[in-house]
Amino acid sequence: MTRGPSRLLLRALRGETLPRPPWWLMRQAGRYLPEYRETRAKAGDFVALCLTPSLASEVTLQPVRRYGMDAAILFSDILLVPYALGQELSFSGDGPVLEPIEDAAGLRRLAPPERLDRLDPVLETVRRTRGVLTPETALIGFAGAPWTVATYMVEGGGSKDFRRVKSWAYRDPAGFETLIAVLVEATVRFLSAQIRAGADVVQLFDSWAGALSETGFERWVIAPTRRIVAALKGAFPDCPIIGFPRGAGLLYQRYAAETGVDAVGLDTAVPPAIARDYLQARVAVQGNLDPVLLIAGGAPLIEAATALRRTLGSGPYVFNLGHGVLPQTPPENVARLARLLAEPVT
Ligand code: CP3
Repeated sequence: MTRGPSRLLLRALRGETLPRPPWWLMRQAGRYLPEYRETRAKAGDFVALCLTPSLASEVTLQPVRRYGMDAAILFSDILLVPYALGQELSFSGDGPVLEPIEDAAGLRRLAPPERLDRLDPVLETVRRTRGVLTPETALIGFAGAPWTVATYMVEGGGSKDFRRVKSWAYRDPAGFETLIAVLVEATVRFLSAQIRAGADVVQLFDSWAGALSETGFERWVIAPTRRIVAALKGAFPDCPIIGFPRGAGLLYQRYAAETGVDAVGLDTAVPPAIARDYLQARVAVQGNLDPVLLIAGGAPLIEAATALRRTLGSGPYVFNLGHGVLPQTPPENVARLARLLAEPVT
């Protein structure tokens, strides 16, 4: 198995500026693709899809077959870690549902983070997928960052104001730190296992990093991320790590400087020229096309993607969206974007 530096994604993440920046899209597998909807129907429910290696591997490969991205991202979900820790998980029409954990008694119901056997099928998906991808295509493994995973565990699902999880962190920071420490440990174990199974790169999704104040960001985003990165770098010094602290705003700079990640994923609101001037000297950057442009299509899509590549392509850069592909996206707009991204930056 080659972990060839020839993989464009790896070269960019190691700091090379390339004539044609590599690309992939967050949520590149999913409901906008008819073949995904078909496989999803076969699996029954979403958790079963994530935990059935033949189907999860098929879904991982679907967008790469259609569009030839430079990377496949493992098909799984950040909420499988709470599931592995013993928290029941289901997906209703409006998103994930978990039994909320709000205090020390809730923490005692969790399994110890050394026991993640429920995730073994995900590792099998990684092995199978790496086994069939071409050598030029990188395989990205991932996990949710502790803060973002904790928001779902404590709120019991999605939230608009994060009042339960933030109240716990304000009222009882030592107790909340216990939950974060469990998640740091579980995340290091899970990502290490993904890398051993064949993931070439890993990404930490911190989708709700932007909900915190500066002190909260230091304690619940930067510190746990730094611990995870240090542990992974100790064991796998050659495996690049991408951090995606969505909504971090002016704190992106501290995230890039203090966590040790090789690359940062930019959300749509980050001005590309600011990322070029203040982030790209230190880390590779990834992003940040508005996912709605893939619904709008046409000239606005092509103009924005071209401008982004001109601004960020002068340094180490991975083209991506600022957040995930939306289910309403017409597949032909992704094909149009793929044709543009197959050409060198002009
Ligand atoms: O990017 C990929 O193609 C890989 C697969 C992937 C999924 N979720 C599949 C998925 C990845 C990397 C994720 C990450 C994830 N999951 C995040 C972080 C990124 C982000 O979007 O901010 C978060 C917060 C979750 C938690 C989650 N999973 C939510 C809130 C939902 C419901 C909302 C929705 O889009 O339905 C999910 C479900 C989910 N995860 C789907 C997919 C394809 C849709 C499930 C379906 O088919 O019904």
